[in-house]
Amino acid sequence: MGARTPIRSLHPLFGLVYVILAPAARIPSMTSVQSHLSLGSFWRAELDTVWDVLGPFPVHAREQHFISPAFPLNLSQPIDFHQEWPSSYADGGFVNWTKAIGTHDGDIEVSFPRIRQNIRATEGWAALQHHAILRTTLTIYPPTSLSHTDVPHLLVDLIQGSYFTLKEKTQVSDFIPQWFAGNIYNLERALPHIVPLPVTPSLTGEPTEYDLFISGDYEIRLFGDPLVSNSEMPVQKLGIRVQTQEPCPPIIHHESQDVICDFLNGYAFGNVLGIGIQSLKGWWTVESVEISTALTVTIGVDVELQATPIVVAPLQTRILPFFLRQSAPFTGDALQLDIYLKSGSLSENISISLPVVHHQLASSERQALRGTFLFAGSSPTAFLAIPPALHSPHPQPPVLALHGAGVDVLGGSFWQKSLPEIKSSWTIIPTGRTSWVCTGLDWHGPSTQDVWMALAELSTIIKDRIPGLPDAWMIPIDTKVILIGHSNGGQGVWHIASRFPDRILAAVPAAGYIKAQAYIPLTLSSGHFVDPALRAILESSLTPDDNDLHVSNLVDTPVLAIHGGDDENVPVWHTRELVATLKSWYPRADVTFLEDPTAGHWYPSILKRPEVQNFIERVLASSLERTEPTGAFTLTVANPRESGSLNGWKIHRLLIPGRLARLRVYNINQFRFDIEPSNIHTFSAPERSTPYEIHIGDQRVPVRRFQGEVHIYRDGSGIWRVTDIPGVTHTQPPGRLQTILLSPGPIVIVISKASSTHELLAAQRLAHVLLLYHKIDSEIIVESVLQAQAGEGRRWPVGNIVFIARPSSLLAEEILGKNRTPVRITDGTVQINQRRFGGSDQAVIFSHPHPTGTGGSLAVFILYNDISGLERTLRLFPFRTGVAVPDWLVVSEKMDNFGAGGIEAAGYVHFLRPVSDGRFSPTTLSVETKQSVGNGLEAQ
Ligand SMILES: *[C@@H]1O[C@H](CO)[C@@H](O)[C@H](O)[C@H]1NC(C)=O
Ligand SMILES: *[C@@H]1O[C@H](CO)[C@@H](O)[C@H](O)[C@H]1NC(C)=O
Ligand SMILES: *[C@@H]1O[C@H](CO)[C@@H](O)[C@H](O)[C@H]1NC(C)=O
Repeated sequence: MGARTPIRSLHPLFGLVYVILAPAARIPSMTSVQSHLSLGSFWRAELDTVWDVLGPFPVHAREQHFISPAFPLNLSQPIDFHQEWPSSYADGGFVNWTKAIGTHDGDIEVSFPRIRQNIRATEGWAALQHHAILRTTLTIYPPTSLSHTDVPHLLVDLIQGSYFTLKEKTQVSDFIPQWFAGNIYNLERALPHIVPLPVTPSLTGEPTEYDLFISGDYEIRLFGDPLVSNSEMPVQKLGIRVQTQEPCPPIIHHESQDVICDFLNGYAFGNVLGIGIQSLKGWWTVESVEISTALTVTIGVDVELQATPIVVAPLQTRILPFFLRQSAPFTGDALQLDIYLKSGSLSENISISLPVVHHQLASSERQALRGTFLFAGSSPTAFLAIPPALHSPHPQPPVLALHGAGVDVLGGSFWQKSLPEIKSSWTIIPTGRTSWVCTGLDWHGPSTQDVWMALAELSTIIKDRIPGLPDAWMIPIDTKVILIGHSNGGQGVWHIASRFPDRILAAVPAAGYIKAQAYIPLTLSSGHFVDPALRAILESSLTPDDNDLHVSNLVDTPVLAIHGGDDENVPVWHTRELVATLKSWYPRADVTFLEDPTAGHWYPSILKRPEVQNFIERVLASSLERTEPTGAFTLTVANPRESGSLNGWKIHRLLIPGRLARLRVYNINQFRFDIEPSNIHTFSAPERSTPYEIHIGDQRVPVRRFQGEVHIYRDGSGIWRVTDIPGVTHTQPPGRLQTILLSPGPIVIVISKASSTHELLAAQRLAHVLLLYHKIDSEIIVESVLQAQAGEGRRWPVGNIVFIARPSSLLAEEILGKNRTPVRITDGTVQINQRRFGGSDQAVIFSHPHPTGTGGSLAVFILYNDISGLERTLRLFPFRTGVAVPDWLVVSEKMDNFGAGGIEAAGYVHFLRPVSDGRFSPTTLSVETKQSVGNGLEAQ
């Protein structure tokens, strides 16, 4: 991937040196806000440079989403700065509070000299996963003149820390911290978190003091091994910038978030523009957009709004999508847009100038073109595409190049220059949503979707939008591709190739790792408190990400795997192990391993070399000759929603979700396949021009010729049947919580009332992380507005829905009353199977079919009894990879100290038996920690 610190001054892949940028460069420019700043007449925030530090404490990767970010403290109680705390990192087994001095710019370095090397004797490399809590004082000074009495928000940019919170100094017993996610990956072009002050500061000249707490988590995967920079001691480096933000003007433009495509021969290389807009106060609706009137007549370009209204909630940033229509070539330097927005009786016009980059086809050099497309129905997204050389004779499958973590493909040309030149093909460079794909989902989930959408959009752009392009440039929308990638991108190649084998012509993974748990083992800490049966449930939510388990799907994919033998970042062991796994499945697999014995993680020739060039050219030359498989093969699927077919065979539904499904196909000939299914409810078989039979044990299933996609399912008595009623087979439950990120429209976050400040703040924080970590758009909406919009006919939004509510919510009760999962509300209390969860600290988070029941989307409910429960479930919302959350979970206060050991119950939902009227009776595979309900880990 991998372990690197985003750096600006060094080579973009050697990430083991830290440079924290000056604050001016980090807080993105905000048009028109601070221009009239004069000392004393504005609110001012000042951070003390002295920090109290407590730590380090062992955590495993992503455990900070389970334990309290303040661990081991309870911020609802006074802090004793003289108390010792146990920690297995320290000599003697205990740590004390220490002090660190930060700079005035908010840079903090925390080192832990007492961690000795010998910690590696037990935990190895992964020992360097630890947590510390940091505290300092933030003072807010009111303006001297009273012209600015609007209470300001804070703009907080926390770099390389996981969470922060604020507490007014005198608040004690009733204080429940609200944690805001930091920019732990130091993502480029990130906006600061906008934070309402928890207690209104004094307006009368007296400064108000707050405690600012940071959860500082050293993750070796992100920050690297100190040994590489010749230091034995891990040094945690954080940056925090705080400034006040007055809500005036109430809506602002963030240029850093804009998305625009290049123009080729005067035509837009895409059909969508994005404009970053943030509301500082109020709910804003986009009323209209137009090209500045002075120009409309002459330029032949027009912009249009989507049909569905776009609402920007208070403090939310959205990248507004506008469609481009073009009737004639455009040659101007910039597009001028006027956007008109309204909020109640207020209105604002924002004028924006978008610089345009032009390319000409005549140019002989292959240049990277920036395209745009609309991701998931609402997120304008850019990608790069390098066309084939002009003289290429005929269309060839494209090369898709997946970058490593922290490589900003849009901001620099490093990655495109590192790739082999395949002159006969397009080279497509998707972003995978962000530079830290892994923030991200390691090229999984929405990142994989981003790859396929960039490809499909390119196919449309060159065919329909730009006249006069060479025929050899055209690519069919469902073309097969060659995948190539380095580091996290190398891992992404293994991932996508083994999930969509029928779409992959060949794979070139370099310096990839197997899976997150093999990179950083989950061995530290909270395993001490967890019933291994519960741990199995939690960790099996990661199964769809486990590349090694899916290697059986690479039976017919030519693979050229590359790795530096002395890789200091992703050990070469990973590729050797994957190659061995593939060879264990298929001794004759077409896999070549190139190990460069003395090379490290990155070297310029890792991909740009004759071996890669020759391999790809060989595959392209033989791409038309592929024949039917003759040998036996095994299709492995953990998550049917995110998996394609292998040799035409596809698994649509599992018998028991959360467990692996396998389909072995053998004895293959023209008239017959023998198969051995395991944990499969429904699969489909390849379409053929001749009739054939499928043999499953002693059953024979005849398949007619040209029958289309044939679905075969196991009925309640174990008989396999052919069906063409998709309803019977497509009721796979939505699955692990992470599926929420795969939304066909903006993720709709529903809160019960606009006046519920806790729910609104929860929604604002989710919207922030979705945009920061995934560039995924969301819309915040109030239950009553949704009800009114939906009306009698119930027109629900198409996107996935997150409901944040108390169990008293009528809407929640109504939707859950349809019994589509085992979660229901009885007398205002959440009940799962037989057990009720009414404890004030308890809260549940679970996935649920979308209220309309349409297959493509889903809902996630967060039902909480008190604010502390809401806060805990929010941290489990899987906005980062590797947070082990299955279909449903019940959290309790114990989680703060015991991590996953504080989970009350967890499980998967599976709809086992169809009842007579076509509905399914929901049951679950679950573990509850207090009482057993009988349907635990039963054998299949
Ligand atoms: C934290 O302290 C508050 C106030 O004393 C208490 O109610 C709560 O149970 C404590 N939390 C934990 C996790 O012990
Ligand atoms: C922590 O501080 C106390 C009191 O100052 C001292 O007695 C103790 O030895 C210290 N512990 C460690 C691990 O340094
Ligand atoms: C903004 O533009 C709209 C539409 O062009 C116009 O009707 C409105 O008066 C303008 N508002 C302001 C405040 O300039």
